[in-house]
Amino acid sequence: MTRFTVNNQSVEYLLDPETPLLWALRDASNLTGTKYGCGTGHCGACTVDVDGRAVRSCRMTIAEAEGTYVTTIEGLSRERAHPLQLALLADNVVQCGFCIPGIVMAAQALLRRNADPDEDAIRAAITNLCRCGIYPRLVEAIGRAAR
Ligand code: FES
Repeated sequence: MTRFTVNNQSVEYLLDPETPLLWALRDASNLTGTKYGCGTGHCGACTVDVDGRAVRSCRMTIAEAEGTYVTTIEGLSRERAHPLQLALLADNVVQCGFCIPGIVMAAQALLRRNADPDEDAIRAAITNLCRCGIYPRLVEAIGRAAR
């Protein structure tokens, strides 16, 4: 049994401890806002917050998550949209939307440790891939959400 906190609720998983966090969240907890893209840690579609850090959940086992606080996109915006989400909407950043939950989770972790990131800091922190190519608008919107 593996236990950690997901979106402020203590959860026990009766899964193989080597199960990727991504699949525990999606399949066992039905938190499907966290996406599967590559499964190799490159695309960032699976990004969640673990103890304040942006983590690629396809590359973390649930054994490694034991005792941590995990926040998914559902937990970030449970009662109302996060300011980052509002900024993305206001600036018409989103196209297909598949990568957006992971990007929002990476961006919120950035803004918690750097409340006023410059363009270089945003580009360094948001390494998520987007096939629609929204990067210029994305960087602007994240900068605006920080202000
Ligand atoms: Fe995890 Fe691509 S699915 S980084």
